[in-house]
Amino acid sequence: MKKMKVAVVGYGGMGGWHAEHLLKSDVAELAGIYDIKEERSALAQSRGIYAYPSYEALLNDKEVELITVAIPNDVHEEVVVAALEAGKNVICEKPVTISLESLDRMIAAAEKNGVRFSTHQNRRWDVDYLAMKQIKESGEIGKVINIESRIHGSRGIPSDWRGEKVHGGGMLYDWGIHLIDQVLMIFGWDVKRVNCICDNITNKEVDDGFRLDITFVGGERATVEVGTYNFIAMPRFYMRAEKGTVLLSDWREEAKVVKCKYWHENDVLPVKTAAGLTKTMAPRDSVTTDTYTVAKPASDVHDYYRHFINAIRTGCEQDVTYDQMRTDLKVILAAFQSAETGMPVEL
Ligand SMILES: NC(=O)c1ccc[n+]([C@@H]2O[C@H](COP(=O)([O-])OP(=O)(O)OC[C@H]3O[C@@H](n4cnc5c(N)ncnc54)[C@H](O)[C@@H]3O)[C@@H](O)[C@H]2O)c1
Repeated sequence: MKKMKVAVVGYGGMGGWHAEHLLKSDVAELAGIYDIKEERSALAQSRGIYAYPSYEALLNDKEVELITVAIPNDVHEEVVVAALEAGKNVICEKPVTISLESLDRMIAAAEKNGVRFSTHQNRRWDVDYLAMKQIKESGEIGKVINIESRIHGSRGIPSDWRGEKVHGGGMLYDWGIHLIDQVLMIFGWDVKRVNCICDNITNKEVDDGFRLDITFVGGERATVEVGTYNFIAMPRFYMRAEKGTVLLSDWREEAKVVKCKYWHENDVLPVKTAAGLTKTMAPRDSVTTDTYTVAKPASDVHDYYRHFINAIRTGCEQDVTYDQMRTDLKVILAAFQSAETGMPVEL
């Protein structure tokens, strides 16, 4: 099938990523880029990529069926809506936008113009997350009680627009949106309540880290934590279920499962603590548990474009639905409200 012509708006860090991936795509062809900064256009041209002289010129290019928008978060809406109004299908970088009213205007523009609109939740193809999802869905450790998902770094928040509130900066919008989307993909989209505490360690204007607790309608719980001032990182994923526990220590590692074979133990060897012996906290042995690792699932991030282009061509449901975009954003906005008020927020 003929490749779909795609243009990228914003040739910064992520726009560069899209351009590079589109050049290798088996379903899409890079038509060119548009960036408001001349030096970014010049850089693209030096790499043999066509740079549109204006956004209007891009919108008037009839060959382009799909536009990917990769610019700072506060200006997504105006650029996305202009593309939708010009009859283009659109992929917008995450977070799709920074208010629900803004998202509703974007969705309404897509529906009015009969085109498709998606947001780039590319971390749905991360193998660490996919491993946790696969273990939960296999049922091998029974019903999952809670999951903890963390990303810890030690270099503070980037010193660009991400550090400024007006541009939709901060870690909830930057990394939070990915990790929230992942736990909603694992537990489903029925969120009951959120409780959030934000860090302002290296940046007073926007959150440079946070801890978000999500309770689902079914009773499951998720903790999502991002830190940029953590000189020792906690494990990437930890999951407890009726029949076992899963640990994924680092995104380069495989998941380790300890499954309970027998609940009852005849001879528990106590462990010594500073204050005396304990059987309650003594580790289990291989008589009552099975320990194994789970191989990393196969994943190809090009599937994001493959699936979306297929949805445009066939009319089938897209991976990232409008309802999912709304719920992801609602959770983020509720997290901000909870952090500000110091109270849990019901969704
Ligand atoms: N999905 C991911 O994994 C991922 C990773 C990084 C960034 N992002 C997202 O991508 C978007 C861009 O982030 P970035 O890191 O590439 O930022 P960046 O600052 O590196 O690049 C932004 C580019 O957009 C250009 N720009 C700004 N306004 C413009 C406009 N109106 N029209 C055309 N060009 C414009 C700037 O000149 C700059 O070159 C953000 O929404 C961010 O959250 C997503």
